[in-house]
Amino acid sequence: MQKAPSEEAVRKLAEGYRGFAGLPPLAGLDSIDRAMTKGLTIRESVQRLKRVRWAMKRLHGIFTSRIAAMPIYELKMAFSLHAYYCAEHVAAIAERVREMRQPPYGLEASPEPILDVFFDEIQAAPSTAALVLGLYREAVPAVLRALQRFLSETNRLFDHPSYRLCRLASLEMREIEEYGQQAIKCLVVDEDREALSGWLDTLGRILSSAGDLDGTSDSNETEFERMFSAAPYRYDGVPKRDRRFKDPYNMGVNAEAMLFDPDVEPLPKSIMLYFKRMREIDVPEVISSILSENNGRSWEYYRDMTRQLWDEARHAMMGEVGFASLGIDWSEVPLNLTWSLELNTKLDPQERHAVLFTIEQGLMPKKNGKEYEWQVALGTADRLTALIQDYDWADEVLHARIGRQWLVPEFGSQAEAQAFGDEAWSRATADWAAWRDKGLTEHRNWWPDVYRSACRHWGIEPEPELLAYNATYENTRADLKRVSG
Ligand SMILES: [Fe+2]
Ligand SMILES: [Fe+2]
Ligand SMILES: [Fe+2]
Repeated sequence: MQKAPSEEAVRKLAEGYRGFAGLPPLAGLDSIDRAMTKGLTIRESVQRLKRVRWAMKRLHGIFTSRIAAMPIYELKMAFSLHAYYCAEHVAAIAERVREMRQPPYGLEASPEPILDVFFDEIQAAPSTAALVLGLYREAVPAVLRALQRFLSETNRLFDHPSYRLCRLASLEMREIEEYGQQAIKCLVVDEDREALSGWLDTLGRILSSAGDLDGTSDSNETEFERMFSAAPYRYDGVPKRDRRFKDPYNMGVNAEAMLFDPDVEPLPKSIMLYFKRMREIDVPEVISSILSENNGRSWEYYRDMTRQLWDEARHAMMGEVGFASLGIDWSEVPLNLTWSLELNTKLDPQERHAVLFTIEQGLMPKKNGKEYEWQVALGTADRLTALIQDYDWADEVLHARIGRQWLVPEFGSQAEAQAFGDEAWSRATADWAAWRDKGLTEHRNWWPDVYRSACRHWGIEPEPELLAYNATYENTRADLKRVSG
């Protein structure tokens, strides 16, 4: 490559360099001297982008594969967000690479097998402590380091599209890192660190063998052996919840039967709306299992489905906000996991997706759907409830569209996809009595207590008729269709 001008010469040339009337040159992107001296070639830029993209793709896979079996609710939600960020950046960087005259694109193959060992190890982390350390102390900072090096070394003007993407990505990766530091502080104790110190050293050695994540450092070819990933990773799709989730098989209160009852006034229904929102924890549990057990699709598929996954996690947290607004401790409300448990253990990924699609399509009509829920929320005259339902509705419309785009073509028609999902749903969710008979739950009616608490918050007397509400899911699905027990 041609030699660069001396620093001295550049400084002299740049001195006093101004635009018209003193305006910053180069659209304010960079100084003229940096623009004269900085820069990666297209080939170098693509090489680094591919490695960063691959790292985020692997991170996405790790985050999604851990959502269902992660008991801690907050981490389940954070993994959903972090997977979503990664999915978006993977797509954006791929698009940029395709613009950079470097065929074959090679985006589906690993740019550096050693990097895969690094991510395989974290993927197989056997405990929450190992997982958060691997992700947030090792992997995410390595991605951030690569992005920052890229930003400081590429030419902001010549390679501006890449520069911009990496700048946006670094913003979100920084957010992930900051969350991760909190997670480590809250969840990792000294004994964990001690027990894992050998493994963490190994991760560092693997990365340095690869010349760091972006391949820009000298590769120190040190010896390392696979530890946690010595045996192939096995996905665990059985959903788990932390100890705040009491009575997780409870299907004792049918929220929809009250919500869609025109004789019940809106205000008490807000409890059911919050319950239904927060119960949506089970949807990321299912979507993550679909993604984890469905390999080889186009990235657009994973990206759309991950957006949906994150929306569902947001809906759950919207419900959490709702309960907090009533001064109700959500752990007093049994947020069951029977739906995600049954889908993830009894159905294959396509059946699960079809069930989800059938449910979401069922929410689109005016009657007993998302619009109706929003109207109930407006009727409560509570701004927060109305906002929650407003956004929930909009997101669910998007999800119905995502299903039409990705699932319906597998069946030929929407009607066939829905019929398939409908059948699979009934087949998977007929265990009401079995949960009780196995002693897993008594399907306790939690409604009166929670209703009373809310009434105290509202400063009103509970209505005796509503206090006596006792419809269950024994013979009914959430769309109020009958199922045989
Ligand atoms: Fe949802
Ligand atoms: Fe929702
Ligand atoms: Fe949805």
